[in-house]
Amino acid sequence: MKATFSFALLGATSAWAAKASLSDVQRVTNLATVSNKFIVEVADASDIPSKRALSTHEQLYQALRERKISFEVNKEYDAPGLFVGAALTLTDVANILNTEGVVAIRPVRTYGRPVPVSSKKVSPGDAGLPDSESTHITTGVSKLHSQGITGKGVKIGILDTGTDYTHPSLGGGFGPGFKVAGGFDLVGDNYDGSNTPVPDSDPLDQCAGHGTHVAGIIGANPGNEFNISGVAYDASLYSYRIFGCTGSVGDDVIVDGLIMGVQAGMDILTMSLGGSDGWTEGTGTVVSSRIAASGKVVTIAAGNDGASGAFFTSGPGNAIDAISVASSDNTVIPLQSLTVSGATHDPIVYYDTFPLPVNGTLPLYATSNDTTVVDDACDPLPDSTPDLAGFVVLVRRGTCTFVQKLTNIAAFNATTALIYDNGNGFSAISVGDFNAVLIQADDGVFLAEQYAAGAPIAVTFPQTGGGVQFPAPTGGLVSTFTTYGPTNDFYFKPAITAPGGNILSTLPVPLGSWGLESGTSMATPFMAGSSALLLSVKGRTPAVAKSARGLFQATAATIGSTLTDGDPLQTATQQGAGLVQVFDAIFGTTLLSKTELILNDTAHFAGPQKFTVTNTGKTAKVYTLSHTPAGTAVTDDAGSIQPNLGPVPLTTDFATVTFSGGNKFTLAPGQSHEVTANIKPPQGVDATTFPVYSGFIHVTSGSDSVHATYLGLAASLKDKQVIDNTDFIFGFTLPLILDASGNPQNASVNYTFVGEDAPTILWRQAFGTPVLRLDLVPANTTFTGTLNARGNGEPNSFATPHKGGSFAKVPVLGTLLEIDWLSRNDEINLLDNTLLLENAFANGTTIPNGSYKVLLRSLRVTGDATNEADYESWLSPIIGVAA
Ligand SMILES: *[C@@H]1O[C@H](CO)[C@@H](O)[C@H](O)[C@H]1NC(C)=O
Ligand SMILES: *[C@@H]1O[C@H](CO)[C@@H](O)[C@H](O)[C@H]1NC(C)=O
Ligand SMILES: *[C@@H]1O[C@H](CO)[C@@H](O)[C@H](O)[C@H]1NC(C)=O
Ligand SMILES: *[C@@H]1O[C@H](CO)[C@@H](O)[C@H](O)[C@H]1NC(C)=O
Ligand SMILES: *[C@@H]1O[C@H](CO)[C@@H](O)[C@H](O)[C@H]1NC(C)=O
Ligand SMILES: *[C@@H]1O[C@H](CO)[C@@H](O)[C@H](O)[C@H]1NC(C)=O
Ligand SMILES: *[C@@H]1O[C@H](CO)[C@@H](O)[C@H](O)[C@H]1NC(C)=O
Ligand SMILES: *[C@@H]1O[C@H](CO)[C@@H](O)[C@H](O)[C@H]1NC(C)=O
Ligand SMILES: *[C@@H]1O[C@H](CO)[C@@H](O)[C@H](O)[C@H]1NC(C)=O
Ligand SMILES: *[C@@H]1O[C@H](CO)[C@@H](O)[C@H](O)[C@H]1NC(C)=O
Repeated sequence: MKATFSFALLGATSAWAAKASLSDVQRVTNLATVSNKFIVEVADASDIPSKRALSTHEQLYQALRERKISFEVNKEYDAPGLFVGAALTLTDVANILNTEGVVAIRPVRTYGRPVPVSSKKVSPGDAGLPDSESTHITTGVSKLHSQGITGKGVKIGILDTGTDYTHPSLGGGFGPGFKVAGGFDLVGDNYDGSNTPVPDSDPLDQCAGHGTHVAGIIGANPGNEFNISGVAYDASLYSYRIFGCTGSVGDDVIVDGLIMGVQAGMDILTMSLGGSDGWTEGTGTVVSSRIAASGKVVTIAAGNDGASGAFFTSGPGNAIDAISVASSDNTVIPLQSLTVSGATHDPIVYYDTFPLPVNGTLPLYATSNDTTVVDDACDPLPDSTPDLAGFVVLVRRGTCTFVQKLTNIAAFNATTALIYDNGNGFSAISVGDFNAVLIQADDGVFLAEQYAAGAPIAVTFPQTGGGVQFPAPTGGLVSTFTTYGPTNDFYFKPAITAPGGNILSTLPVPLGSWGLESGTSMATPFMAGSSALLLSVKGRTPAVAKSARGLFQATAATIGSTLTDGDPLQTATQQGAGLVQVFDAIFGTTLLSKTELILNDTAHFAGPQKFTVTNTGKTAKVYTLSHTPAGTAVTDDAGSIQPNLGPVPLTTDFATVTFSGGNKFTLAPGQSHEVTANIKPPQGVDATTFPVYSGFIHVTSGSDSVHATYLGLAASLKDKQVIDNTDFIFGFTLPLILDASGNPQNASVNYTFVGEDAPTILWRQAFGTPVLRLDLVPANTTFTGTLNARGNGEPNSFATPHKGGSFAKVPVLGTLLEIDWLSRNDEINLLDNTLLLENAFANGTTIPNGSYKVLLRSLRVTGDATNEADYESWLSPIIGVAA
């Protein structure tokens, strides 16, 4: 029963259709790792005294050959201090664990190409586009630009889909002297994450586009037709193309690109990519963190999985020392307006980025004169209705779908409609192919009343000049799509927020040159550019690079959970330390030694927290300490093991903070003071909802204010159930075995392993796990797994978890699958884990004919891998092998 790994996510389901059907489960292995490919990390040569004569790589290969393990070398890495090892294709991975010099073996996992949350091509006629200056103003970037600080001399490596450097606003060329001064194509057009890369020296991208949008956010030259500019438009960009035109990228390529960037002398490396992970242990993640720790700035997208709830961080964005970037919405939305004749009214805003394609001025027809009608046009219109061709039809929102209303009016030849809001809210609506848009309630009521009064109302849709900068109802808030942290090992992610919702930037020339996109992919280059501004002022040194995250975090502006006064601040598990304030980060004169106060869970509570405040200004300052809590995130549904979906509900069950030695102190220039903050977790909260509390400790002197952000869990992570043993998703209790027909296997079944006749194990992680194992055990095993019937299990006899051994005194016959650091599943995208069994163990050895059961074990977070009691376990029905 060899595990065949391939990358295949189950189809996405919509947020309101959370439950799925078993018949939709594909009987394949769907784990996001590449078949038999591993990245083996070895110790630096100097650490292996015994075999100095051979290179570390040769030592590894020789050891594999001695063990008769067949392997193929896909890529060697040799960056001592960062990463030394090789990407290998091999079958028997378990067998090389104990090889001398092997430090770690990690599967090659793949990360999806970053798909923008929303994307729109634009052209210069589209007035009303959000000017990039709104994002530059809210973050202090324009203030730096006006002082001539534009990132000159700083090198930024972008790992993405490549760049269309032929774009005039990106310099129009490639190589020394150009804005895009260098880079490399590591993969070629046809790479999709599972096939072999075909590198070349030219990172031009004119097929995917994402990397060009990212490049423009950092570096677009001012003076273009949209009047936008990049955050650090005088910085030098280096384009490392790691995605082909479509598909994913593997860790093996990400690591290659990172090392290439370091070796080419980049000051900053930025990656707008990722996939749900939850742990800080993937190869790309670990290497990113090491590069950051070595004195480079590494900015990585936090992810766009906000809908999936907390504890769902992306790799490699969860790299411990990197800057993981959340997104905030631009303060304006680009909308269009129409003009009215026959009555006096200002232009009416309608919800569309582009003008409705309607020429001339058309008379209005209202399907009802009653401005309170609840089901306007839900039924076929009366026979007396005139031919509506040539009219703009006004309909009130409510009761039935927009498409039903539009279908009813289309029956009378109507081609254009305005739907007016009934109090549901002004937003984009879904109207299929109809030429229809939403207007606000007041405007609709005005039009309907004038029409009913007999006024000759007519409407014009200007094809140019009708653009409006509509104040976004969510402007300045954290974009709802931003992934929530923290990591399962309780690292502080995301680190900080930057504008990423509704961002105008460059696209490849063949794809339209300009486009509006949303995502943490857009926020990430904003932070890379901000870091370039910082390095250009403070110096391109490792010390400055290492200080960047703290400077940005200390000076960020905290963000509310809504725009309503009195509502709590957004949880730091989504906003990080707040919205970046680049000017303050560079020119602030109060330094904090620590800006992330990680309190961990109740079992590992890390309090009190100490940090040092230094006055780097030229005058003495009197400082005051204060505390603002953020909303406490209720990450789990009370009375269930399922996570709450985003937006994660917040409560006002706040932590309390006191300061040892009082809350006031004075510092002369250059002086420091140690603060001790005693943070008490919120009391009386329901620990089974796994509440994540957070807040800000401000150090204020006049207008000079910095903060450290704290984050803790008012529960113990070890109490969090990791395997879903409910029927929540499929209506069948999990885990289960799907038989050859895709039905749950209830009794003993024999399989031939010919064609479709093989079992598939289906399970869900309700939470991430450090160790997941599937083993074959004898069919007469009678022990009761903790999840088969919630009980006490058996006495502890599980001493060697990573080497077979026994479990609950049950002998393990062989391993089918072991995965470390597995992410939880979510309801929105990845419904489940499936493993299609073959008649071979994980090491490729054939399983003899006979009867067996599968034992599934999953270690709880913070559990001890050698303690059987820290595992959840499940035992399958009998599986007969008759192959
Ligand atoms: C472009 O920006 C400049 C400087 O910020 C400003 O003076 C000018 O009015 C802007 N042009 C347009 C068309 O917005
Ligand atoms: C509007 O007029 C332009 C120019 O006469 C024409 O090209 C376009 O097709 C017309 N659009 C519609 C929707 O009638
Ligand atoms: C729709 O237009 C067609 C073609 O002009 C016409 O024959 C038909 O009567 C119209 N339908 C209605 C309901 O007015
Ligand atoms: C609405 O009012 C207009 C103008 O008075 C009238 O022509 C029309 O018949 C009325 N519509 C309905 C459905 O009563
Ligand atoms: C939280 O505690 C766990 C258990 O000791 C530890 O493994 C983890 O590293 C801690 N997290 C942080 C961010 O310190
Ligand atoms: C196992 O039982 C479930 C109902 O509990 C049923 O739907 C399913 O079809 C059964 N499987 C087989 C193979 O009969
Ligand atoms: C499976 O095969 C074994 C060995 O041939 C046999 O004893 C057993 O009855 C079979 N089980 C089923 C459910 O067919
Ligand atoms: C299970 O079967 C094996 C051999 O068939 C036997 O040695 C062992 O004692 C049995 N175990 C139990 C718990 O019955
Ligand atoms: C593969 O694993 C099985 C089950 O643990 C074991 O019996 C077998 O010896 C292993 N094969 C090799 C080549 O190590
Ligand atoms: C295993 O069982 C199958 C089906 O009964 C049979 O065809 C095959 O020869 C058996 N294999 C061995 C090695 O006995």
